[in-house]
Amino acid sequence: MDGSQLNPEMSIPDPWSLPLDKIDPSRAELYVTGAHHDYFRRLRQEDPVHYCAESQFGPYWSVTTFNDIMAVDSNHAAFSSSPTIVIGDLPPGEDPPMFIAMDPPVHDVQRKAVTPAVAPGRLIELERVIRGHATDILDGLPVNETFDWVERVSKELTTRMLATLFGFPFEQRHLLPYWSDVITTSETVGVAADMERREAVLYECLDYFTKIWRERAAAPQQFDFISLFAHNPATKTMVDNPQELMGNLMLLIVGGNDTTRNSISGGVVALNAFPHEYEKLKADHSLIQTMMPEIIRWQTPLAHMRRNATRDVELGGKTIRKGDKVVMWYVSGNRDETVIETPDAFIVDRDRPRHHLSFGFGIHRCMGNRVAEMQLKILWEEIMKRFAHIEQVGEPKRVVSNFVLGYEQLPVRIAV
Ligand code: HEM
Repeated sequence: MDGSQLNPEMSIPDPWSLPLDKIDPSRAELYVTGAHHDYFRRLRQEDPVHYCAESQFGPYWSVTTFNDIMAVDSNHAAFSSSPTIVIGDLPPGEDPPMFIAMDPPVHDVQRKAVTPAVAPGRLIELERVIRGHATDILDGLPVNETFDWVERVSKELTTRMLATLFGFPFEQRHLLPYWSDVITTSETVGVAADMERREAVLYECLDYFTKIWRERAAAPQQFDFISLFAHNPATKTMVDNPQELMGNLMLLIVGGNDTTRNSISGGVVALNAFPHEYEKLKADHSLIQTMMPEIIRWQTPLAHMRRNATRDVELGGKTIRKGDKVVMWYVSGNRDETVIETPDAFIVDRDRPRHHLSFGFGIHRCMGNRVAEMQLKILWEEIMKRFAHIEQVGEPKRVVSNFVLGYEQLPVRIAV
């Protein structure tokens, strides 16, 4: 549960007048209005490792500065990813096993099995395929007419990329975001009827992938996620453990879906919020190279990852006790003014643009980071070849969540 069910209309207290111990950045409505930036600014200044004793998710620590987040993310012995990496807890035993929520050695073995799907050697072929999809999508867009960028571009390109990584039947690709939405939204609703429906849909997904798995296992190994799992001696029996198969499918579908989708939308929002930067890009398309990591930093598609303390640990002068819940707020670390100059600004030619936390750090650092960047690069190269301007023509509809930072709708108009 990540708090998406909260009402965004709820009143948001001014963080500067709240007692420090009442500051609770887990409230999802903060992220809809952008109020979270001031909450984190205050915490970074006054209490960078902060304890919140009461929240909808129980007591938890917030780690808010760039360097403290790096320290937690790179110390997996003291800060475990098990049983879950989001702030909310499912009832004990209901977290499906997936390697993002595991520690070594199982984490390492499973990650290694599927990494070849997104390894540098694969990127040349993936680049060719993704460019074909980007071209096709952009050529089909209306000009001088308002439309929803999220639906027509961000979702569609991400879906096609995921279908490629899974070797998923292209005509049925829309099942992937459908399953992803059911996994993520229903998880946060918690209503019995929805949970029943969710289970039925997840069984459908499991059935579908089990069939694909059996076909791939009987054929020579290819470089899609399923074929790699099915042929690796360490993971080939996963198909006999539906919980574990489902967990890892959830990870690979959801991990690449909302994140990439929201960085595609976030680029358009950022360039419209900083028109001078858009002009710089128009004058020099080679700036796409530095702009793509800057989009990912500025947007920070995942606000947080959670860890669980395995022993008493000192951090920032505080003692975190064994068993405590520790939340690394990437969205705050990426705006840490002591590490990143003018961090609230979107700067297409920023120095050291890759110095950000959006992909995490340490053994769980995002496995798909190169593909995500490459997709943004290709998309913006093709956009700049075709369109004079993409104008944002209204307020975006934001996702209500303390985990996924992004957009449900983004009205735009293209000029050629
Ligand atoms: C802009 C896009 C993306 C962002 C911001 C993002 C962000 C993240 C973050 C924050 C983590 C956890 C890091 C940590 O705990 O230290 C992660 C892990 C992961 N991501 Fe991504 N991700 C993106 C795209 C993708 C794509 C395209 C895929 C491919 C399907 C993917 C697959 C994964 C996987 C499998 C993990 C787990 C790695 C592990 O536990 O070892 N991600 N990602």
